Amino acid sequence: MTSPRFTGRIAVVTGGASGLGRVTAEGLAAEGARVVLFDRDEAGLAETAAKCPGSITVAGDVTSAADQQRLAEAAAALGPVTLLATAAGTLGPTLGFLDISEEQWDRVFDINVKGTWLSIRYILPLIKAAGGGSIVTFASTAGLIAQPVMPAYAASKAAVTSMVRSLAKGEAPNGIRVNSVCPGSIWTPMLEATFAGAGEERAKREAEFLARHPIGRFGKAEEVGAAVLFLLSDAAGFITGVNLPVDGGRLA
Ligand SMILES: NC(=O)c1ccc[n+]([C@@H]2O[C@H](COP(=O)([O-])OP(=O)(O)OC[C@H]3O[C@@H](n4cnc5c(N)ncnc54)[C@H](O)[C@@H]3O)[C@@H](O)[C@H]2O)c1
Repeated sequence: MTSPRFTGRIAVVTGGASGLGRVTAEGLAAEGARVVLFDRDEAGLAETAAKCPGSITVAGDVTSAADQQRLAEAAAALGPVTLLATAAGTLGPTLGFLDISEEQWDRVFDINVKGTWLSIRYILPLIKAAGGGSIVTFASTAGLIAQPVMPAYAASKAAVTSMVRSLAKGEAPNGIRVNSVCPGSIWTPMLEATFAGAGEERAKREAEFLARHPIGRFGKAEEVGAAVLFLLSDAAGFITGVNLPVDGGRLA
């Protein structure tokens, strides 16, 4: 067993009630971090917290500045915060440019773009006050290449990759690194919902998604969690402004 990488660190994880946020939180806790879990799903938060010793939970919506402020206050009360992972996100509907409604488009952008920005808006000052740290956001391969059936999701994740670059450059002199992971198709409740939403076309959609991944399978949540933990850790000390595909070769 290698030495734990996050002993004594305080980490905020949004989207901590499910999927990639949950495995990130569990990995951080297993390596000594005290985790502050944020999500709108209270039952899911409690399940994750049960596996993260010393963690606390804050229920709220990433699109709400008031909720994000509560999150920041709860985290600051624990001590210096140096780590942030922003996994909360939504896929939105599988509808093309002409079919998605204005309301649906706005909701995807509210959660994925504004929600990510608000998390940074409220937690970055704590990381600065602590003297530095590391942020990992969750973009997607969909933000790096064309995605005609999910244009709002793709554009929202491209926005996240742009935020990563701007923030990384601005914050590097302050000892704060900012990166993202860009997962391919990873088995989480989000992917399951995508396939379930295809109804009778499920098998066809699964086969289409699978064919995009040269490695010949979907990713495991733990494989994304491992990349997030590496980017958060001091071992990645010279890496900032990177949007890292974790995609079984999809973008190769
Ligand atoms: N699973 C994949 O294949 C995949 C691929 C690429 C990118 N991603 C990204 O990774 C991140 C995590 O995805 P996942 O697969 O774990 O999904 P998930 O649906 O399992 O988990 C997402 C979590 O975000 C929370 N959330 C959503 N909207 C919220 C809001 N407004 N306020 C607070 N919490 C909210 C949900 O309650 C849920 O717990 C997302 O940003 C997603 O876009 C996932």
